[in-house]
Amino acid sequence: MNATITATAHYVPEKVLTNHDLEKMIDTSDEWIQSRTGIAQRYIVGENEATSDLCTQIAKQLLEKRELSPDDIQVIIICTCTPDYFAPSTAALVQNNIGASNAWGFDLSGACTGFLYGLETGAKFIESGQYERIMVIGVDTMSSIMDYTDRDICVLFGDGGGGAILEPTVSEKGIIDSILRIDGSGGDYLIMPGGGSRQPATVESVKARQHFLKQDGKTVYKFAVKGMADVSKDIITRNNLTGEDISLFIPHQANKRIIDATAARCGFTEDKVFINIGRYGNTTAGTIPLGLSEAVDERLLNDGDMLLLAAFGAGFTWGSMLIKWETYP
Ligand code: UT7
Repeated sequence: MNATITATAHYVPEKVLTNHDLEKMIDTSDEWIQSRTGIAQRYIVGENEATSDLCTQIAKQLLEKRELSPDDIQVIIICTCTPDYFAPSTAALVQNNIGASNAWGFDLSGACTGFLYGLETGAKFIESGQYERIMVIGVDTMSSIMDYTDRDICVLFGDGGGGAILEPTVSEKGIIDSILRIDGSGGDYLIMPGGGSRQPATVESVKARQHFLKQDGKTVYKFAVKGMADVSKDIITRNNLTGEDISLFIPHQANKRIIDATAARCGFTEDKVFINIGRYGNTTAGTIPLGLSEAVDERLLNDGDMLLLAAFGAGFTWGSMLIKWETYP
């Protein structure tokens, strides 16, 4: 028995932050951002809007699209590194907002690979035979940990995400393989140093801007291309496929140049690679479910298509997942 995706949805906040807006805030240019990253704009939350609000919008759409009652959901997995609070979990807030009275759930922290970790976890619950309807949502509110005086990083990220319902299938379709990795030796290259138990918030830590995400962009770039390409090629080979058998590749959207380099290493032609980074920037755990939901809406996936997902992020974490797409009613 495989787990299959039976509904997808996505949501971004209303407020748009364009490259031209950023030109007024820091020493940057639309030309630099577009040519180095492919990003033209990103969405950011308004006042009093947080990760659970975006997740709730997605959760409601998922229920509506699959015509489920909130009580049908057994597990809620929220993949995020920007929860509303350390406690309670974002999953608890979403459960309450949608009234999923039979569910349990938890937050899962895997940075940009979070949604793949979440799909893998949900799929194993389904395969155990104990669960039949699981909601997996990937959302990040990166603006909440962005230093809008640091041009090295603040131009890259945005807020938003998407989600999916997982259910069992008796067909040979659905999630058929995954390769997931973690290597903490890369931890310092992409890190928010303050706010956790290592460096709790103090006046000094706030003044030192320790509660913002920091990265060594060049190092992350190098590892991202190699990491995503290696696991993508491995998963294709071990399933006795070639690049040509892949109908659609939805990679994590961190930088268009990273996507292009990864696709080139895997031998994917441009028409097979899903790219929406221009509109959203990097939404961390949000990029893959946002891309998947848009791909479904744009009817880019047909029954039986081989879909490949790949991600890379802080940790380092990375992975790939192979899905034989099953069209749902
Ligand atoms: O989800 C995973 C998370 N992150 C990533 O995957 C990010 C991976 N890294 C990257 O995407 C790229 O390394 C960046 C987009 C961050 C940077 O691109 P780059 O081609 O590696 O640029 P660079 O760091 O070599 O910077 C080139 C120049 C520097 O100036 P100098 O030293 O050559 O005078 C930077 O100071 O561009 C400058 N620069 C900027 N200029 C205008 C850096 N950021 C900006 C900016 N606007 N926003």
